[in-house]
Amino acid sequence: MRLITNKLALLLVLVVSCIAKETAQKTFSSKSRSEEENIFEQNTNSELLWAPYRSNCYFGIRPRYIDETPFIFGLMWFDTTEFDAMTRLRHFVSDDDHMERFTWEAYDPRLGGKENIIDPENNLNLTIYFAKTHDDSNWVVRVSGKPLDTARNTTTSVVMYMNQNIGPDMQNGQSRLIHISNTDNNENENSLEFTGMSEDLGKYEVLINDNHGKYYTNDTLESIEVVPGCNASRTSHVGLTIPDHEVWRARDVFQSLLTDSIKDIVQVTGEKVEPGLVPSILTLRNLHNFDQGNFHYVQKTFDMREETGFEFDIVYNNLDSKETIDSGKQATLLIDDALHEVNVRFDNHFNIDETDGDKRKFAMEVLANLLGGIGYFHGTQVIDRETVLDEDQFESIKFEHFREEGPYSLFTSVPSRGFFPRGFYWDEGFHLLQIMEYDFDLAFQIAFSWFRLIDEDGWVAREVILGPEARSKVPQEFTIQSPQIANPPTLLLALSEMLTKLIENENNMAFVAGNKMDIEEEEGITSQLGSNFDYIIKYSKIIYPYLERHFKWFTETQKGLIEEYMEDMEDDEKFAKVNQNFVYKWLGRTVTHCLPSGLDDYPRAQPPDVAELNVDTLAWVGTMSRSMKDIAHILELTKDETKYAEIEKKIVENLDLLHRSEKAKTYCDVTLDDEGDEEMKYVCHEGYISLLPFALKLMPRDSPKLIDILTLMSDPDKLFSPFGLRSLSKQDEHYGEGENYWRGKIWLNINYLCLNALEYYFPEVLTGSHEKSALNDKHTSELAGKLYTELRNNLINNVYGNWEKTNYIYENYDPTDGHGTGSVQFAGWTALIVNILRG
Ligand SMILES: *[C@@H]1O[C@H](CO)[C@@H](O)[C@H](O)[C@H]1NC(C)=O
Ligand SMILES: *[C@@H]1O[C@H](CO)[C@@H](O)[C@H](O)[C@H]1NC(C)=O
Ligand SMILES: *[C@@H]1O[C@H](CO)[C@@H](O)[C@H](O)[C@H]1NC(C)=O
Ligand SMILES: *[C@@H]1O[C@H](CO)[C@@H](O)[C@H](O)[C@H]1NC(C)=O
Repeated sequence: MRLITNKLALLLVLVVSCIAKETAQKTFSSKSRSEEENIFEQNTNSELLWAPYRSNCYFGIRPRYIDETPFIFGLMWFDTTEFDAMTRLRHFVSDDDHMERFTWEAYDPRLGGKENIIDPENNLNLTIYFAKTHDDSNWVVRVSGKPLDTARNTTTSVVMYMNQNIGPDMQNGQSRLIHISNTDNNENENSLEFTGMSEDLGKYEVLINDNHGKYYTNDTLESIEVVPGCNASRTSHVGLTIPDHEVWRARDVFQSLLTDSIKDIVQVTGEKVEPGLVPSILTLRNLHNFDQGNFHYVQKTFDMREETGFEFDIVYNNLDSKETIDSGKQATLLIDDALHEVNVRFDNHFNIDETDGDKRKFAMEVLANLLGGIGYFHGTQVIDRETVLDEDQFESIKFEHFREEGPYSLFTSVPSRGFFPRGFYWDEGFHLLQIMEYDFDLAFQIAFSWFRLIDEDGWVAREVILGPEARSKVPQEFTIQSPQIANPPTLLLALSEMLTKLIENENNMAFVAGNKMDIEEEEGITSQLGSNFDYIIKYSKIIYPYLERHFKWFTETQKGLIEEYMEDMEDDEKFAKVNQNFVYKWLGRTVTHCLPSGLDDYPRAQPPDVAELNVDTLAWVGTMSRSMKDIAHILELTKDETKYAEIEKKIVENLDLLHRSEKAKTYCDVTLDDEGDEEMKYVCHEGYISLLPFALKLMPRDSPKLIDILTLMSDPDKLFSPFGLRSLSKQDEHYGEGENYWRGKIWLNINYLCLNALEYYFPEVLTGSHEKSALNDKHTSELAGKLYTELRNNLINNVYGNWEKTNYIYENYDPTDGHGTGSVQFAGWTALIVNILRG
């Protein structure tokens, strides 16, 4: 059913892409957006309108591209049997909550999903379902909890909050959210009904209905109501007004209201309280006689001595929709439907063999967590455009001349919901390499959202931290972004991969002579862009000027100094051939760190020198050039295509001419020798940096130097480990030293690129027919095959093994025993394991 609906929607969009459907779209805020951008957004807006887009919350909803008057929803919970319960009140994802597990078991932002959280400190096994109606207007959240151990006699108090933002137009605004009733009859005293109106979303209702569960009671006590309004045996509701920009502080506000209430109770009843009354004491009441505003807390406290726990639904119905959710039964059907379809879609894209342990379950969960991290962010960004970097001492710089700019919006996935719930430029390209294999259009939407952030100068921030909610997770000094700082342009890598796919598709399409629907059937419905070339051209046209600016900004700000090397160059035949205009370095490194490179503490030249040239910067510019070439090709901009092809060629040449040390047989940074007569010298630390020219597919396919890369990757005393490729050679003097972040730890992003490059340079690794390779001799080909198979198995076994043992995937993995390290549930680029599993 859904398939058909979507197909119809697709056709409509293709035929009359300018005419907005008479659904939610007509109310989208279109201020400050160009007509063209609107067309793109309308395409998938209705399907992607509602989802748990508050990545930082265990569960929080806000709509996408509704900036002024969004409806906001969040969930909190705690066991209220102990007085210190508030210290265990859950809201934002945090590694400090000691969750035994928190995971999306299945999820797709277009459909819905199921999230499970095991919270031992609160004795709770919580499952949250999310599903939408077929017209994508309405949704249900089902909250289902069970005790981990009934003998602990705990309660679970679930606190929901919701707000209808009123927007900046506060005087004339119509947006509101009002509680109507919960007392229409006695059976339903725990059911609540709200009615809402949003200038962007239209009219809607919110219904809260119990399915089952026993509210807290205590027979040994005469009354459970400690003071009027504090009765844990029934649903409590408090409506008030909170300014839009403070809604994200719902937990703090709850805590302070509760604290006021407790202080008041202590005054009334004295210090000594019955232990059995604690759950009521921790129930919110309207102590201050607030007038009902647009913000609402709803609290339900369940007795967890009951094995079966509790379950209730929150339903959002757009009142213009013909498909409102009217019953729990209907909600159940929607949830079952959504979960079924998520499974079908997953299997359509990743056919993973189930015979080998729980690999399918694992892969499904990992992908679900990457998708479950997708958020919509809106707010101001803190930027310092004045402070100049220190290129004499390379001390770290204090950015003190900052101000807020924006507001901006960003639709993005995040590296991890607990630790990094915001946009990371360098991570996002890797996220897209995974997402594009599942939902090409979604990946494109995200890329598009990022490209729109490229400013007039061509700059986009390394971390996009929009608004106070996102900033609350970041120490203040790190919130400030500088337009001098670059970061590996992985988004262009992802774009390049997408375009390659499209160009292949284009050729296939020519082959089937315009029978586009056939391809679409095969690709699945989430590949509207991927299978419609006219469509992609339209969007490429919009993006192109942004990317041109970005390329220009990147290559100008990160340009290296070549004059210092002139003398050496004249003397040496090899250097004489260097393309002097195409040398680069990361601006903004310090003595100890090179944050712009993404590989923070990877060893670099010591001491630092303004004339240093970085091989990885050059390689990334190569990737950008290729991407620009591809997009120019698609747009039939022949002159530009030639221009970027020429740049790519020069960069490929420079990698060998300038950065390859014949002595070390590897790619290295170069700098000036600070001793003697300041000659050019190589700075060689074997590791991810040395692999990048290969990993980014910039070495010529027939390069005789490929064998050296293979040898380096295969050497167990250098990069090869039973758990994946080490970031730094075990033999490097700095291996495992200091912070030990990129000094040996195994990271999935670069490992993935290496596997992918092995497939590119040695296609025979996929079939095992080493004899047939056209380019490589038998020895090289066999080495590649062995490396590919072992590396792939090692990565799968280790990431999977850690997940089996701990329920988590990690930021990186230890090279000595393979255990996960860094932040947990790092379903950012570690999620690339799903592509690897599929092979
Ligand atoms: C949590 O509850 C679900 C659903 O009832 C159940 O399948 C799962 O085994 C439970 N997990 C734990 C750790 O108790
Ligand atoms: C839970 O309650 C039961 C019966 O009321 C009691 O026997 C038991 O000791 C209690 N358990 C704890 C951990 O308090
Ligand atoms: C507390 O709530 C329960 C459940 O609604 C009700 O039976 C009881 O009478 C309430 N207590 C008081 C004192 O109102
Ligand atoms: C019921 O209240 C009594 C008296 O305060 C307390 O000792 C007991 O633990 C309570 N029982 C439960 C299950 O909370």
